Amino acid sequence: MEYSQLDQIVAPLLAWYEADHRQLPWRGTKDPYKVWVSEIMLQQTRVETVIPYYRRFIERCPTVAALVSCGDDELLKLWEGLGYYSRARNLKKAAQMICASYDGRFPETYEAIRGLPGIGDYTAGAVSSIAFEQARAAVDGNVLRVVTRLTQDRRDIMDAKVRRQVTEMLENVYPPKLRGDFTQSLMELGAVVCVPNGEPLCRGCPLKALCGAHRQGTQMQYPVKKKKPQRKTEHKTVLILINQDKIALRKRGAQGILSGMWELPNIDGILTAKQIRQAFAEKNIELRELREVSSGRPPLKHIFTHMEWHMVCWAAMCSAVGTDNGLTWVTEKQLTHEIALPTAFKKCLKGCGTMWEGTGGQQQHDK
Ligand code: ADE
Repeated sequence: MEYSQLDQIVAPLLAWYEADHRQLPWRGTKDPYKVWVSEIMLQQTRVETVIPYYRRFIERCPTVAALVSCGDDELLKLWEGLGYYSRARNLKKAAQMICASYDGRFPETYEAIRGLPGIGDYTAGAVSSIAFEQARAAVDGNVLRVVTRLTQDRRDIMDAKVRRQVTEMLENVYPPKLRGDFTQSLMELGAVVCVPNGEPLCRGCPLKALCGAHRQGTQMQYPVKKKKPQRKTEHKTVLILINQDKIALRKRGAQGILSGMWELPNIDGILTAKQIRQAFAEKNIELRELREVSSGRPPLKHIFTHMEWHMVCWAAMCSAVGTDNGLTWVTEKQLTHEIALPTAFKKCLKGCGTMWEGTGGQQQHDK
C-alpha cells in the first residue's frame, strides 16, 4: 500500500485489538504516571521481564509524589537487573520536575511531556495518546517494522527523517476516538504478529490484505536497517575481596557505562596474580589466598548495547584494610536487600566458589 492509503489500516487494526489483546498490568489504566512508568520500563526490555518489575514499582511508588520521596538506593534496588539505570534516575528527576513546575499533576500537552527528563518522541507520543487520547503516534522499532512492510518502504529506519515522516503519516490517520488503543494496537501487532525475529505470522494479521510485503512475499526484507557498528570488547579482572562476613564494593564514576552504580573492584585488562597483588599493594591492601575463581572456563561475558565485557574473576581474603581506598564493605544481607549491583557483577559472584555464591541470580542482562 501507499502511505496515502494508510487510513485503511485503522478500522481493521482497532477491531483486531478490541477483540483480543494481551492483558498487561499497565493496560486499562489512563493514569499518565503509570503509563509513563510502563513505557520507560518497556524501552529495550521485553514485556515478560517488565511485568514483575512494573508491579513492584507501582506498589512501592504508586504516584508521582511517592516516587519523589523514594530514596535513590531504594529506587535503584527496584530497578536492579533491568539495566539502563539512567532510566530510573531520569524517572525521579522528571517526578521532581512535575512537583516543582506542574504542582504535582502530570502535564497534559505533548510539548510539556516531551520536555521532561528521559522522555523522547516515542514516550511523549505513547503517554499523550494512551493517557490523554491525543492524536500522537509512538513510533518504535516494532511500529516501523509494521509500517515499512505495509508500504514496502526501503529507506533506512535508523534515519531520523524516516522516523519523523512515519510518525507524521500515522498521526494524519489517527481516529477521532480510541486513540490510545490505536497506539497500542500498532505496538501489539508488531509484538505478536509482525514479529521481529523470524517469519511474521501473517495468517493471523488483520492487515494482510493491505500489506505490500505480504503480497510480494518480501516481509523478511523489511525493515531496512543499516548495519550497526560492532560492539567493543573490554577485558576486566574482577576481584571478590572477602573480609570476615563482608565483601568489598566500589562506586563507579559519574561518567560512562553503569555510571554511579556499585561494582566489584576491578582492573582493566587480564592481569596475573602478581600484577593483581601489586595493584592492591599500591593501595595498602594485602591480598591473602588469592585465587582465580573462573579458571578452566572461558571468561565470563556480559553484553551491553555498545560494549561487551569479558571478565576473569578472582577471590581473595583481606584484613585490616583502611578507609581511604574507595572500598565499602557490605554484608550479604545488605547486598540482597539494599544495594543494587549490576548483573555483570552478580554473574561474577554466582558460581565463584566462595560463600558469596548465593548472591547472584538475576537472569536478566543489564544493558
Ligand atoms: N512495548 C512498548 N510499549 C508497550 C505497551 N504499552 N504494551 C506492550 N508492549 C509495549
